[in-house]
Amino acid sequence: MRILGLESSCDETAAAVVDDTGRVWSDVVRSQIASHAPFGGVVPEIAARDHIRAIAPVVTEALRQADATLSDIDAIAVTHRPGLVGALLVGVQAAKGLAWAADKPIVGVDHLVGHLLSVFLQRDASFVAVPTYPFVALLVSGGHTALYRCDGEAEIRELGATRDDAVGEAYDKVAKLLGLGYPGGPVIDRLAATGDPDRAELPKPMARRPSLEFSFSGIKSAVARLVEHAPPTDADVPHLCAAFQRTVTTTLVKKTMAAAKQESVSQVVVAGGVAANRELRARMAAAGEKRGVRLFVPPLASCTDNAAMIAYAGARRLATGHRDDLTLGPATFTRLPRVTRKGRGAR
Ligand code: KG4
Ligand code: ZN
Repeated sequence: MRILGLESSCDETAAAVVDDTGRVWSDVVRSQIASHAPFGGVVPEIAARDHIRAIAPVVTEALRQADATLSDIDAIAVTHRPGLVGALLVGVQAAKGLAWAADKPIVGVDHLVGHLLSVFLQRDASFVAVPTYPFVALLVSGGHTALYRCDGEAEIRELGATRDDAVGEAYDKVAKLLGLGYPGGPVIDRLAATGDPDRAELPKPMARRPSLEFSFSGIKSAVARLVEHAPPTDADVPHLCAAFQRTVTTTLVKKTMAAAKQESVSQVVVAGGVAANRELRARMAAAGEKRGVRLFVPPLASCTDNAAMIAYAGARRLATGHRDDLTLGPATFTRLPRVTRKGRGAR
Protein backbone atom coordinates (compact mmCIF):
# COMPACT_ATOMS: atom_id res chain seq x y z
CA MET A 1 0.00 0.00 0.00
CA ARG A 2 1.48 3.35 -1.05
CA ILE A 3 0.43 6.63 0.52
CA LEU A 4 0.99 10.14 -0.78
CA GLY A 5 1.63 12.50 2.13
CA LEU A 6 1.30 16.29 2.10
CA GLU A 7 2.69 18.68 4.72
CA SER A 8 2.26 22.47 4.86
CA SER A 9 1.75 23.29 8.55
CA CYS A 10 4.57 25.83 8.87
CA ASP A 11 7.33 26.92 6.50
CA GLU A 12 8.04 23.76 4.54
CA THR A 13 5.96 22.62 1.58
CA ALA A 14 6.44 18.87 1.39
CA ALA A 15 5.11 15.78 -0.36
CA ALA A 16 6.26 12.18 -0.10
CA VAL A 17 5.34 8.67 -1.12
CA VAL A 18 5.73 6.07 1.64
CA ASP A 19 4.42 2.53 1.95
CA ASP A 20 2.80 0.97 4.98
CA THR A 21 6.07 -0.65 6.08
CA GLY A 22 7.60 2.84 6.43
CA ARG A 23 9.74 2.54 3.28
CA VAL A 24 10.27 6.03 1.81
CA TRP A 25 9.87 6.02 -1.98
CA SER A 26 10.22 9.77 -2.34
CA ASP A 27 10.49 12.73 -0.01
CA VAL A 28 10.41 16.24 -1.42
CA VAL A 29 10.74 19.26 0.87
CA ARG A 30 10.72 22.83 -0.34
CA SER A 31 11.86 25.14 2.42
CA GLN A 32 10.62 28.72 2.65
CA ILE A 33 13.53 29.81 4.86
CA ALA A 34 14.71 32.44 2.36
CA SER A 35 11.26 34.10 2.34
CA HIS A 36 11.10 34.37 6.14
CA ALA A 37 14.76 35.01 6.98
CA PRO A 38 14.55 38.82 6.55
CA PHE A 39 11.87 38.85 9.31
CA GLY A 40 13.75 36.61 11.76
CA GLY A 41 10.84 34.17 12.01
CA VAL A 42 7.94 32.67 10.09
CA VAL A 43 5.41 35.21 8.75
CA PRO A 44 2.05 33.36 8.47
CA GLU A 45 0.73 35.27 5.45
CA ILE A 46 3.96 34.76 3.50
CA ALA A 47 3.94 31.06 4.44
CA ALA A 48 0.43 30.53 3.07
CA ARG A 49 1.19 32.31 -0.20
CA ASP A 50 4.44 30.39 -0.68
CA HIS A 51 2.63 27.08 -0.09
CA ILE A 52 0.11 27.95 -2.80
CA ARG A 53 2.92 28.45 -5.30
CA ALA A 54 4.87 25.35 -4.25
CA ILE A 55 2.30 22.66 -3.54
CA ALA A 56 1.57 21.47 -7.11
CA PRO A 57 5.22 21.25 -8.26
CA VAL A 58 6.22 19.56 -4.99
CA VAL A 59 3.49 16.90 -5.31
CA THR A 60 4.37 16.33 -8.99
CA GLU A 61 8.03 15.87 -8.06
CA ALA A 62 7.24 13.46 -5.21
CA LEU A 63 5.20 11.27 -7.58
CA ARG A 64 7.90 11.45 -10.24
CA GLN A 65 10.66 10.43 -7.82
CA ALA A 66 8.54 7.52 -6.61
CA ASP A 67 7.99 6.52 -10.24
CA ALA A 68 4.25 6.66 -9.59
CA THR A 69 1.16 8.35 -10.93
CA LEU A 70 -1.78 9.36 -8.80
CA SER A 71 -3.63 6.22 -9.85
CA ASP A 72 -0.82 4.05 -8.35
CA ILE A 73 -1.40 5.68 -4.95
CA ASP A 74 -3.73 3.94 -2.49
CA ALA A 75 -4.54 6.89 -0.21
CA ILE A 76 -3.69 10.49 0.57
CA ALA A 77 -2.57 11.70 3.99
CA VAL A 78 -2.32 15.35 4.92
CA THR A 79 -1.30 17.35 7.97
CA HIS A 80 -4.47 19.06 9.13
CA ARG A 81 -3.43 20.09 12.65
CA PRO A 82 -1.75 21.82 14.47
CA GLY A 83 -0.08 24.69 12.65
CA LEU A 84 -0.65 28.03 10.98
CA VAL A 85 -4.22 27.89 9.75
CA GLY A 86 -3.61 29.57 6.39
CA ALA A 87 -0.61 27.33 5.75
CA LEU A 88 -2.47 24.16 6.75
CA LEU A 89 -5.40 25.11 4.56
CA VAL A 90 -3.26 24.96 1.41
CA GLY A 91 -2.17 21.35 2.01
CA VAL A 92 -5.62 20.25 3.13
CA GLN A 93 -7.37 21.76 0.10
CA ALA A 94 -4.75 20.32 -2.27
CA ALA A 95 -5.12 16.87 -0.69
CA LYS A 96 -8.89 17.03 -0.92
CA GLY A 97 -8.68 18.06 -4.57
CA LEU A 98 -6.38 15.14 -5.34
CA ALA A 99 -8.51 12.68 -3.36
CA TRP A 100 -11.67 13.81 -5.12
CA ALA A 101 -10.12 13.85 -8.60
CA ALA A 102 -8.49 10.42 -8.24
CA ASP A 103 -11.23 8.94 -6.06
CA LYS A 104 -8.83 7.95 -3.27
CA PRO A 105 -9.35 7.77 0.48
CA ILE A 106 -8.08 10.76 2.47
CA VAL A 107 -6.85 10.81 6.03
CA GLY A 108 -5.95 13.83 8.18
CA VAL A 109 -2.82 13.55 10.32
CA ASP A 110 -1.77 15.40 13.46
CA HIS A 111 1.65 16.92 12.76
CA LEU A 112 2.89 15.94 16.24
CA VAL A 113 1.98 12.29 15.66
CA GLY A 114 3.90 12.52 12.39
CA HIS A 115 7.02 13.68 14.27
CA LEU A 116 6.59 10.99 16.94
CA LEU A 117 6.30 8.21 14.31
CA SER A 118 9.12 9.56 12.11
CA VAL A 119 11.45 7.13 13.89
CA PHE A 120 9.78 4.25 11.98
CA LEU A 121 10.68 5.56 8.50
CA GLN A 122 13.03 3.39 6.45
CA ARG A 123 15.10 5.58 4.16
CA ASP A 124 18.01 3.25 3.34
CA ALA A 125 18.19 -0.09 1.59
CA SER A 126 19.25 -1.69 4.88
CA PHE A 127 16.69 -1.86 7.67
CA VAL A 128 17.33 0.56 10.56
CA ALA A 129 16.39 -0.49 14.08
CA VAL A 130 13.13 0.95 15.36
CA PRO A 131 11.73 1.06 18.90
CA THR A 132 8.97 -1.16 20.18
CA TYR A 133 6.09 0.18 22.26
CA PRO A 134 6.06 1.51 24.90
CA PHE A 135 8.61 4.30 24.63
CA VAL A 136 9.05 7.84 25.86
CA ALA A 137 9.48 10.49 23.18
CA LEU A 138 10.88 13.98 23.44
CA LEU A 139 9.52 16.17 20.66
CA VAL A 140 11.60 19.29 20.18
CA SER A 141 10.86 21.60 17.27
CA GLY A 142 10.28 25.22 16.40
CA GLY A 143 6.65 25.05 17.45
CA HIS A 144 6.54 22.26 20.06
CA THR A 145 8.43 20.95 23.04
CA ALA A 146 6.89 18.06 24.94
CA LEU A 147 7.47 14.63 26.42
CA TYR A 148 5.10 11.80 25.49
CA ARG A 149 4.46 8.26 26.51
CA CYS A 150 3.74 6.22 23.38
CA ASP A 151 1.95 2.87 23.84
CA GLY A 152 0.86 2.63 20.20
CA GLU A 153 0.14 4.94 17.26
CA ALA A 154 -3.23 5.82 18.70
CA GLU A 155 -2.13 5.71 22.32
CA ILE A 156 0.05 8.76 22.81
CA ARG A 157 -0.14 10.72 26.03
CA GLU A 158 1.60 13.98 26.90
CA LEU A 159 3.63 13.75 30.10
CA GLY A 160 4.65 17.40 30.15
CA ALA A 161 5.22 20.22 27.68
CA THR A 162 6.53 23.73 27.57
CA ARG A 163 4.44 26.34 29.30
CA ASP A 164 5.71 29.07 27.02
CA ASP A 165 8.26 28.98 24.19
CA ALA A 166 9.20 25.86 22.27
CA VAL A 167 12.90 25.11 22.44
CA GLY A 168 13.45 25.77 18.71
CA GLU A 169 11.63 29.07 19.13
CA ALA A 170 14.02 29.96 21.98
CA TYR A 171 16.98 29.11 19.71
CA ASP A 172 15.55 31.30 16.96
CA LYS A 173 14.83 34.22 19.30
CA VAL A 174 18.27 34.07 20.96
CA ALA A 175 19.90 33.95 17.52
CA LYS A 176 17.88 37.01 16.49
CA LEU A 177 18.99 38.87 19.65
CA LEU A 178 22.61 38.03 18.86
CA GLY A 179 22.22 39.03 15.21
CA LEU A 180 22.93 35.49 13.98
CA GLY A 181 20.08 35.17 11.47
CA TYR A 182 17.28 32.65 10.97
CA PRO A 183 16.89 29.78 11.70
CA GLY A 184 18.93 30.06 14.87
CA GLY A 185 19.37 26.42 15.85
CA PRO A 186 22.06 25.36 13.39
CA VAL A 187 24.18 28.51 13.85
CA ILE A 188 24.01 28.44 17.67
CA ASP A 189 24.84 24.72 17.55
CA ARG A 190 27.91 25.48 15.44
CA LEU A 191 29.11 28.48 17.49
CA ALA A 192 28.48 26.71 20.81
CA ALA A 193 31.01 24.06 19.84
CA THR A 194 33.71 26.75 19.77
CA GLY A 195 32.68 28.52 23.01
CA ASP A 196 33.16 27.93 26.73
CA PRO A 197 29.81 27.58 28.55
CA ASP A 198 31.38 28.57 31.88
CA ARG A 199 32.25 32.02 30.59
CA ALA A 200 28.61 33.26 30.53
CA GLU A 201 26.06 33.20 33.36
CA LEU A 202 22.49 32.20 32.50
CA PRO A 203 19.58 30.99 34.67
CA LYS A 204 18.62 27.30 34.64
CA PRO A 205 15.04 26.90 33.34
CA MET A 206 13.00 24.84 35.84
CA ALA A 207 15.96 22.48 36.11
CA ARG A 208 15.47 21.66 39.78
CA ARG A 209 11.72 21.15 39.60
CA PRO A 210 10.56 17.57 39.56
CA SER A 211 7.77 18.20 37.02
CA LEU A 212 8.10 17.15 33.38
CA GLU A 213 7.05 20.59 32.17
CA PHE A 214 9.46 22.99 30.49
CA SER A 215 9.88 26.75 30.33
CA PHE A 216 12.25 28.52 27.98
CA SER A 217 11.05 32.11 28.10
CA GLY A 218 13.21 32.91 31.17
CA ILE A 219 16.48 32.03 29.51
CA LYS A 220 15.45 33.93 26.39
CA SER A 221 14.68 37.03 28.51
CA ALA A 222 17.99 36.62 30.35
CA VAL A 223 19.82 36.74 27.02
CA ALA A 224 17.74 39.78 26.01
CA ARG A 225 18.68 41.59 29.25
CA LEU A 226 22.31 40.69 28.83
CA VAL A 227 22.36 41.98 25.25
CA GLU A 228 20.64 45.18 26.32
CA HIS A 229 22.83 45.99 29.36
CA ALA A 230 26.18 44.51 28.38
CA PRO A 231 26.18 43.85 24.64
CA PRO A 232 28.43 40.86 23.98
CA THR A 233 31.51 41.37 21.83
CA ASP A 234 32.11 39.09 18.83
CA ALA A 235 34.45 37.08 21.03
CA ASP A 236 31.74 36.65 23.71
CA VAL A 237 29.05 35.34 21.33
CA PRO A 238 30.32 31.72 21.11
CA HIS A 239 30.53 31.57 24.94
CA LEU A 240 26.99 32.83 25.25
CA CYS A 241 25.81 30.29 22.65
CA ALA A 242 27.63 27.53 24.53
CA ALA A 243 26.07 28.57 27.86
CA PHE A 244 22.59 28.81 26.33
CA GLN A 245 22.93 25.44 24.64
CA ARG A 246 24.34 23.71 27.70
CA THR A 247 21.48 25.03 29.84
CA VAL A 248 18.84 23.98 27.35
CA THR A 249 20.27 20.53 26.68
CA THR A 250 20.78 19.89 30.41
CA THR A 251 17.06 20.45 31.02
CA LEU A 252 15.98 18.38 28.02
CA VAL A 253 18.21 15.42 28.92
CA LYS A 254 17.36 15.52 32.62
CA LYS A 255 13.59 15.62 32.09
CA THR A 256 13.63 12.99 29.36
CA MET A 257 15.53 10.58 31.59
CA ALA A 258 13.18 11.41 34.48
CA ALA A 259 10.22 10.62 32.22
CA ALA A 260 11.71 7.26 31.21
CA LYS A 261 12.23 6.43 34.89
CA GLN A 262 8.76 7.57 35.91
CA GLU A 263 7.16 5.51 33.14
CA SER A 264 9.48 2.51 33.66
CA VAL A 265 10.41 2.37 29.98
CA SER A 266 13.82 1.57 28.58
CA GLN A 267 13.50 3.19 25.14
CA VAL A 268 13.62 6.88 24.34
CA VAL A 269 12.97 8.61 21.02
CA VAL A 270 14.04 12.18 20.27
CA ALA A 271 12.26 13.80 17.32
CA GLY A 272 11.69 17.21 15.73
CA GLY A 273 14.03 19.78 14.17
CA VAL A 274 16.01 20.43 17.37
CA ALA A 275 16.92 16.71 17.50
CA ALA A 276 19.51 17.75 14.89
CA ASN A 277 21.42 19.42 17.72
CA ARG A 278 24.76 17.71 18.16
CA GLU A 279 25.15 18.45 21.87
CA LEU A 280 21.63 17.21 22.59
CA ARG A 281 22.26 13.97 20.69
CA ALA A 282 25.61 13.36 22.38
CA ARG A 283 24.43 14.13 25.90
CA MET A 284 21.20 12.18 25.52
CA ALA A 285 23.18 9.17 24.25
CA ALA A 286 25.60 9.39 27.18
CA ALA A 287 22.77 9.73 29.72
CA GLY A 288 20.90 6.81 28.13
CA GLU A 289 23.94 4.59 28.23
CA LYS A 290 24.49 5.36 31.90
CA ARG A 291 20.89 4.45 32.76
CA GLY A 292 20.42 1.46 30.45
CA VAL A 293 18.01 3.40 28.22
CA ARG A 294 18.16 2.75 24.48
CA LEU A 295 18.07 5.94 22.42
CA PHE A 296 16.52 6.28 18.95
CA VAL A 297 17.11 9.49 17.02
CA PRO A 298 15.85 9.54 13.43
CA PRO A 299 18.15 10.87 10.70
CA LEU A 300 18.03 14.60 10.05
CA ALA A 301 15.70 14.31 7.04
CA SER A 302 13.13 12.61 9.30
CA CYS A 303 13.59 15.11 12.18
CA THR A 304 12.87 18.32 10.31
CA ASP A 305 9.43 18.90 8.82
CA ASN A 306 8.72 16.45 6.02
CA ALA A 307 5.77 14.69 4.42
CA ALA A 308 7.18 11.15 4.72
CA MET A 309 6.34 11.11 8.43
CA ILE A 310 2.83 12.35 7.60
CA ALA A 311 2.34 9.65 4.96
CA TYR A 312 3.48 6.97 7.41
CA ALA A 313 1.29 8.27 10.25
CA GLY A 314 -1.58 8.33 7.72
CA ALA A 315 -0.86 4.70 6.79
CA ARG A 316 -1.12 3.72 10.47
CA ARG A 317 -4.44 5.56 10.84
CA LEU A 318 -5.79 3.89 7.72
CA ALA A 319 -4.66 0.52 9.07
CA THR A 320 -6.94 1.05 12.06
CA GLY A 321 -9.86 1.69 9.73
CA HIS A 322 -9.86 5.46 10.06
CA ARG A 323 -11.00 7.54 7.06
CA ASP A 324 -11.76 11.22 6.66
CA ASP A 325 -13.86 12.82 3.96
CA LEU A 326 -14.00 16.06 2.02
CA THR A 327 -15.25 17.95 5.07
CA LEU A 328 -11.72 17.65 6.53
CA GLY A 329 -10.50 21.08 7.63
CA PRO A 330 -7.45 22.62 9.32
CA ALA A 331 -7.17 23.20 13.08
CA THR A 332 -4.60 25.10 15.10
CA PHE A 333 -4.48 22.72 18.09
CA THR A 334 -3.32 19.16 18.46
CA ARG A 335 -5.85 16.59 19.55
CA LEU A 336 -3.30 14.65 21.58
CA PRO A 337 -4.29 14.63 25.26
CA ARG A 338 -2.45 17.48 26.99
CA VAL A 339 -1.54 18.00 30.61
CA THR A 340 0.33 21.29 30.34
CA ARG A 341 -1.55 24.52 30.04
CA LYS A 342 0.36 27.11 28.04
CA GLY A 343 1.05 30.54 29.49
CA ARG A 344 0.89 29.34 33.07
CA GLY A 345 4.05 31.25 33.89
CA ALA A 346 6.70 30.41 36.47
CA ARG A 347 5.54 28.61 39.58
O1 KG4 B 1 10.73 20.40 13.26
P1 KG4 B 1 11.14 21.65 12.55
O2 KG4 B 1 11.83 21.52 11.21
O3 KG4 B 1 9.92 22.59 12.30
C1 KG4 B 1 8.87 22.72 13.22
O4 KG4 B 1 7.92 21.88 13.20
O5 KG4 B 1 8.97 23.67 14.02
O6 KG4 B 1 12.07 22.47 13.57
C2 KG4 B 1 12.65 23.71 13.24
C3 KG4 B 1 13.41 24.23 14.45
C4 KG4 B 1 13.91 25.65 14.30
O7 KG4 B 1 13.52 26.39 15.44
C5 KG4 B 1 15.43 25.50 14.23
O8 KG4 B 1 16.13 26.60 14.77
C6 KG4 B 1 15.65 24.25 15.06
O9 KG4 B 1 14.57 23.41 14.72
N1 KG4 B 1 16.92 23.57 14.75
C7 KG4 B 1 17.91 23.39 15.64
C8 KG4 B 1 18.98 22.76 14.95
N2 KG4 B 1 18.60 22.58 13.65
C9 KG4 B 1 17.32 23.08 13.54
N3 KG4 B 1 17.97 23.68 16.95
C10 KG4 B 1 19.10 23.38 17.60
N4 KG4 B 1 20.18 22.81 17.01
C11 KG4 B 1 20.17 22.48 15.70
N5 KG4 B 1 21.22 21.91 15.13
ZN1 ZN C 1 7.31 20.06 12.87
